[in-house]
Amino acid sequence: MSQTKHQTVLVLDFGGQYNQLIARRVRDEGVYCELIPGASPIERIREKHPQGIILTGGPNSVYAPGAPRCAPEVFSLGIPVLGICYGMQLMTVMLGGQVRSAEQKEYGQTVVNLNPSPLFEGLDSQAQCWMSHTDQASRLPDGFEVAASTSTCPIAAIADTKRRLYGVQFHPEVQHTVQGEAMLRNFLYEVCGLTGDWSMPGYAEEMTASLRAKVGAGRVLLALSGGVDSAVCAALLHRAVGKQLTCVFVDTGLMRKDEPEQVDALFRGQFDIDLIHVNAAETFLTALRGVSDPERKRKIIGEQFIRVFERAAKTIGKVDFLAQGTIYPDVIESGLGAAATIKSHHNVGGLPSVIDFQEILEPLRDLFKDEVRRLGLELGLPEDMVWRQPFPGPGLAVRILGEITAEKAALLKEADAIFRQEVARAGLSRDVNQYFAVLTNLRSVGVMGDERTYDYTVALRAVNTVDFMTVDWSRLPYDVLARTSNRIVNEVPSVNRVVYDVTTKPPATIEFE
Ligand code: XMP
Repeated sequence: MSQTKHQTVLVLDFGGQYNQLIARRVRDEGVYCELIPGASPIERIREKHPQGIILTGGPNSVYAPGAPRCAPEVFSLGIPVLGICYGMQLMTVMLGGQVRSAEQKEYGQTVVNLNPSPLFEGLDSQAQCWMSHTDQASRLPDGFEVAASTSTCPIAAIADTKRRLYGVQFHPEVQHTVQGEAMLRNFLYEVCGLTGDWSMPGYAEEMTASLRAKVGAGRVLLALSGGVDSAVCAALLHRAVGKQLTCVFVDTGLMRKDEPEQVDALFRGQFDIDLIHVNAAETFLTALRGVSDPERKRKIIGEQFIRVFERAAKTIGKVDFLAQGTIYPDVIESGLGAAATIKSHHNVGGLPSVIDFQEILEPLRDLFKDEVRRLGLELGLPEDMVWRQPFPGPGLAVRILGEITAEKAALLKEADAIFRQEVARAGLSRDVNQYFAVLTNLRSVGVMGDERTYDYTVALRAVNTVDFMTVDWSRLPYDVLARTSNRIVNEVPSVNRVVYDVTTKPPATIEFE
């Protein structure tokens, strides 16, 4: 279901760390863009009908044995090409120039002198740019001119305006390159002559029409988890096929306070979606009784989920399509050409094997997370649903350390709700990427009135991160922590101590289990 009707830019991925960011920046400019492995054969590139090609950075040296190259025809298609970092070095070498190892690795912000060029049209001639490289171009290929330089990198950008081939040693996609956005815009609009014909309302329209055509009179089944992706998927499919969509929502009893009711009110109540709401709290708690090992908890929850879902799905009869909220980062192939890295969707992993259906629908597989959110808003989902923080598939099971009981789950839901309320009240919900309470299995002595207590410790975790791979703990204001702590020990029975987690990841993880 890719958007061949649109103007398209292809990003050829050579494995650099900012590559998805390049694609997102291009889309932010209203230009549809796909990321494919750098060494893709020319036929694959041609069939996408790109109007512009961007070669990304990458970890290799162009002369290293096995270093990835693009198909040589890329430079003779008559389509503008922009090489970034490794991409510029590759363009230099493949077109007959030379690259050499710089005296030392250059990393960080540098002042770059920009020469007049369509790529730098309208920009200040001196620019702060972000560099991260060991090699640099040392001889231009025929037809090229030097388009920018720094004190240590005399060929910091190259241009062949006739063939519309450009290269930059720095990274215009990162925000530390102050005029980087304008450079990308120049490439898209001035050099490639694009108009920016890709927008979220247009995408929603098209997706709706294409889903409608594909599904015909068929029945669609979707596991709704309450997370952003499945929620947007439900709203989109509902717009496309209305009552031919059935959603199954499994309440494990391990979701956050009031969440099952909110999901029900929104999708059944407001959207009028056919929703099978299974209250399976008992089933899950029984299956988890006596289990403390986190991996066993995850496994049991996964198995129970499939069982409960399967039973619910059978009640609707024949299903033609199983929908999943897979998003673009889940399906992008690795830039270095390794086998496709396709992750199964956390919460519905394993479902296809138990449901009898014709085809899987993945209507969000072209979108990045922030685009999924924009689409959600476009489809009328409320802000708080669209901006929901990530929540682990096994839910509160991995936030109750040790054995899970109904009583512990109830305590944690209350404590977590208080923390969320206080963060929201302080206006910080959008500033913190993930925050929650954990019920530790530490019990300690306290004093309540004249009596000693021996009760649970609740840990608060709040993190800031870009990618959830590395995180810093959030510097929440003391008064937010004070109010939260005070309310938890006063309002939640059996809790007499609250601690705040001040560890980064690594070495800690975000979750405690
Ligand atoms: P960690 O704890 O590994 O978490 O730093 C990284 C992100 O992944 C989420 N997470 C999970 N999500 N199933 C999920 O669907 C899981 O078992 C799981 N464990 C962790 C976590 O909440 C964080 O956003």
